[in-house]
Amino acid sequence: MSYDLEQRAAEAIARRAGKMILEGMRQGFDVDLKGKNDLVTNVDRAIEVFCRAEFETLFPNDGFLGEEFGGQGPEGRQWVVDPIDGTLNFAQGIPMSCVSIALLDSGKVVVGVIYEPYRDELFSAQIGQGADLNGQKLNTSSTEVVADAVIATGFPPLKTTEDEDNLECFAAVTRASRGLRRLGSAALDLAYVAAGRLDAFWEFHLNPWDTLAGVLLVSEAGGAVTDERGGPYSGFENCVVATNGLIQDELLDTLQSAL
Ligand code: IPD
Ligand code: CA
Ligand code: CA
Repeated sequence: MSYDLEQRAAEAIARRAGKMILEGMRQGFDVDLKGKNDLVTNVDRAIEVFCRAEFETLFPNDGFLGEEFGGQGPEGRQWVVDPIDGTLNFAQGIPMSCVSIALLDSGKVVVGVIYEPYRDELFSAQIGQGADLNGQKLNTSSTEVVADAVIATGFPPLKTTEDEDNLECFAAVTRASRGLRRLGSAALDLAYVAAGRLDAFWEFHLNPWDTLAGVLLVSEAGGAVTDERGGPYSGFENCVVATNGLIQDELLDTLQSAL
């Protein structure tokens, strides 16, 4: 079964959403607090409204779930959208954020598109068809050991009240790896693993809109994605661990030793 039409539509919508991110950055925006450390801007909301309207027009039978306004789709197909992943970066004027769009069909991610407007980078994948960046095929890295790996993580806004202390994992991976990065956009972290720019990424307490598009990119680029115990990751588990595949077991051991 082909999802070509859906993938092309998601790419076009992501590009237009990316323009809205750039315009917002240029023209200014209003910031609200959703919770402690958890920001939202009028640009996040406007992009989600725009994406929902576009998908409803193009695919009226599909459901839609967005970070800012929620939503529940019917059984079957559902578009899952993070209008700006990396809102704190956006609000600070740091050019490291993106729009993330995934299509779920019967619980499986079949299309994943991430657009980063500052460098005009469109990451796109369809199940069984590979992943690409601006039309160039993506492959995960060939790094074989954690000692040679560059690895990213992130922290949820409510970092002090969460169960796991990711700082322990942060310390363990910092010691074990070549370098640790904290970019501030989980979707881009995953896209960068797919592109081989990062060897791995893990984070606790993410939501499906943060990860679904990125995990399809990683798996279609040849990498591996699991939860923190090595079990399957479907978008709703407690933790996502994504690597080039070669260092998956070693990174899981490193994380488990710190938990
Ligand atoms: C956040 C980013 C960040 C991650 C946070 C997420 P948002 O998403 O992905 O990198 O560490 O856990 O909440 O709020 O910018 O869409
Ligand atoms: Ca997000
Ligand atoms: Ca967001």
